[in-house]
Amino acid sequence: MTAKIVTFGISKGGCSKSTSSGITSFLLSNEERVLAIDMDGQGNLTSFLTGEYDICNVFEDRTILEAILQGDARPYIIKVKENLDLIPANDFLATLPRKMFDKGLNLDALQNALKPVMEDYDWIIIDTPPALSEQTVMPLSTSSEAGSYAVVMFDGSMFAYYAIPKFLEIIEGAKERYNPSLQTAGVLFSLIDARAKENEVMIEAVDEDYPDMKFNTIIKRKASTRRLAIEGFEGNAELKNALEYYIPFVKELKERVSQKQPQRSN
Ligand SMILES: Nc1ncnc2c1ncn2[C@@H]1O[C@H](COP(=O)(O)OP(=O)(O)O)[C@@H](O)[C@H]1O
Ligand SMILES: [Mg+2]
Repeated sequence: MTAKIVTFGISKGGCSKSTSSGITSFLLSNEERVLAIDMDGQGNLTSFLTGEYDICNVFEDRTILEAILQGDARPYIIKVKENLDLIPANDFLATLPRKMFDKGLNLDALQNALKPVMEDYDWIIIDTPPALSEQTVMPLSTSSEAGSYAVVMFDGSMFAYYAIPKFLEIIEGAKERYNPSLQTAGVLFSLIDARAKENEVMIEAVDEDYPDMKFNTIIKRKASTRRLAIEGFEGNAELKNALEYYIPFVKELKERVSQKQPQRSN
């Protein structure tokens, strides 16, 4: 079985990309084999899944940067728990574009690094930075026979509203140029600023602009979800509460992915 790839993105920060990709990886790994990949030098997904915040030292020379440059992900995979592996990131990921240039690598560099492990997983879940740079374009350009999907994160803000069409354009570009198997799984509303009255207006606007793209599940703000970054998943007494909105989301994601057959280029 080849892994399905799901990339979480949007060029605005604070839209719950790292939290959502981390929780999705965790939940999927209850039943299937998951590789989570951190493509953001902030290393938030890395910290979220490992509880380790000293990422520069702890993961020195053991990150997605080295995996891409070496063209082989295998030596850089760490085990988080049963069925859940991670390729970490740290601040040195900022040097990726220059090092790729020096080595003459192109946007298929992540694809090449992942080739040896594609059969080892059911899902590869990728967190991206709030930028439309190589670190976002490369995951979107990575194809799989089982399909490659993008989840567009939206936090209900005006800034994110205007970031959506730009991210969709990047998705279209990656699909046309590098990855015909790429499809948009949907827009995930993570309304973590529950106080904002404008949310309703923004939900309607996005629904009207992008019909049928919104996941039915809307992630709402929860202190227990926020505390996952502190408490972790293991032995967390409020875990059930923290995951409440994500359980139906992951169910929906799986349904959408199984309905969207990979498109074959002919
Ligand atoms: N459902 C939620 N409820 C409460 N806080 C959340 C929720 N989702 C994310 N957060 C918090 O919001 C902030 C931004 O989330 P994060 O996942 O880092 O976004 P991004 O990766 O898009 O920048 C973090 O402090 C995170 O803990
Ligand atoms: Mg993040």
